Amino acid sequence: MTINKHILLAVSGGIAAYKSAELVRLLRKQGATVRVVMTRSAMQFVSPLTFQALSGHPVHSELLDADEENSMGHINLARWADALIIAPATANTLAKCSHGLADDLLSTLYLAATCPVYIAPAMNQAMWHKPVTQENIQKLKNHGVIVIGPEQGDQACGETGFGRMSEPAEICDRLMAEPTAQCLSGFKVLISAGPTREPLDPVRYITNRSSGKMGYALAKAALKAGAKVTLVSGPVSLAAPAGADVINVETAAQMHVAVIAKAPEHDIYIGAAAVADYSPALMENEKIKKQDSQTTLTLALQKTRDILAEVAQLPNRPFTVGFAAETHDLEQYALDKLARKNLDMIAANWVGRDQGGFDSEQNALQVFWKEGQRTLEMTDKNRLAEQLISLISERMEHERHNKNTA
Ligand code: C5P
Repeated sequence: MTINKHILLAVSGGIAAYKSAELVRLLRKQGATVRVVMTRSAMQFVSPLTFQALSGHPVHSELLDADEENSMGHINLARWADALIIAPATANTLAKCSHGLADDLLSTLYLAATCPVYIAPAMNQAMWHKPVTQENIQKLKNHGVIVIGPEQGDQACGETGFGRMSEPAEICDRLMAEPTAQCLSGFKVLISAGPTREPLDPVRYITNRSSGKMGYALAKAALKAGAKVTLVSGPVSLAAPAGADVINVETAAQMHVAVIAKAPEHDIYIGAAAVADYSPALMENEKIKKQDSQTTLTLALQKTRDILAEVAQLPNRPFTVGFAAETHDLEQYALDKLARKNLDMIAANWVGRDQGGFDSEQNALQVFWKEGQRTLEMTDKNRLAEQLISLISERMEHERHNKNTA
C-alpha cells in the first residue's frame, strides 16, 4: 500500500545521524514526503546537503532566519507534518523536549506539533541509564510521545549496552503503521465498550472495573480515520464521541441483542467491552434481605452468551477483533481465543500490573492474527487506539489483496 504521508524528520547531533539518511530513503520509497530539520550539532555529523539530496527539499535549521521563515515558517512546518520523528534524539534533545524548552528550531517544532510525535533515542549507554534521562523519557511517554528503541549492542564510543538507535527499517515500519488520514473512509465500524451491569435485585448489581476508555478511544480513532461508527456502550462516565451513533445498554444480554442486530450492517466489529461472563441466574424483584442467621450467602450465576464468538459465526461477518485482558500467560490465552472464537484479530493486554489496563490512561497491546503479531508499546489510550485502527485497516487491506490475487 502506498501511503502519501508528510513526515517531518528532526535530526539532532549524534553519530547515529548517518542512519537517518537511510531513513529518509526508506520513507520516500514507501510514498512519504519527507522534510528534514537539523540542529547545529547534527550538521557536524552529516552535511545538510545529504538530507537535501535524499529528501528533495532544502533542510531547515534556523529558528530566526527570515529566508527560512519566508519559505516555510516553523508553525507551518509543524502544521504540514502528519508525523514528527526525532532521530537520533540525543540526551540533550530529550531533556529539552521533556521540559518544554524552545530555544532552537527542533525543540520549537516539538512544542508546536499537534501530530503524533516519535522519538528514536541514541546515546552512550551510561547516559541512557542515568536516572534523569529515564525520567525525561517517562515524561515524554506520559505526554503521548512514542519512543522507538534504543537497541542493545556495540556503540560508537566502544562500549556495549542500550543506546544504539533503532534500525531505519524498524523506525520506518513504525511510522508507516500510524493511521493516515481517512484510512477507514467508507467503512462502518461497530464497537462495544465499557463494563456490563448484572442486577441481583433492584438495588445491587455485579460489574467490573472497565472504564470504557479504550473502546471510546477506538471509536474516536475510527471516526478520525473516516469511518461511520456505532458504539454499543455499557454504563460509563465518558462523553459520547462526537459523530458516533451511541446505543446505551446495561446488561450483557442487552449488549448481545444490540451488537447482534447491528453487526450485519458493519464492516468491522471490535469487542472492547468487558462483558460479564456470568450473570445472576435470577434477579430478585425485591431487595435481598440480610439474614441474621446466615453468615454466608450463595449466589447462583449462569453463563452469558459470548457476543464476540457469535458475531464471528455470522454469515458475511464483519472483520472481527476481540480483546483479551489477562493476568498471566497472555500470549497463550490470546492465541487460544483467536482460534476458539474464530477471530480475525485479538488485542491482548496485561491487567493488575503497575501501569495500563482497566481505568488507566495508558495501555500497551500485544496484537495477534493468524499469520503474525505486533507489539503496540505503552502509550496513552488515544494514541494506542489510533495505532490499532491503523493495524486493522492494514490487515483488512492485506486480506482483500490476497483474496483478489487468489
Ligand atoms: O473469553 P474472554 O471473556 O476473556 O474474551 C474477551 C473478549 O470476548 C472481549 O473482546 C469481550 O468483549 C468478548 N466477550 C463477549 N461476550 C462475552 C464475554 C466476552 O463478547 N460474554
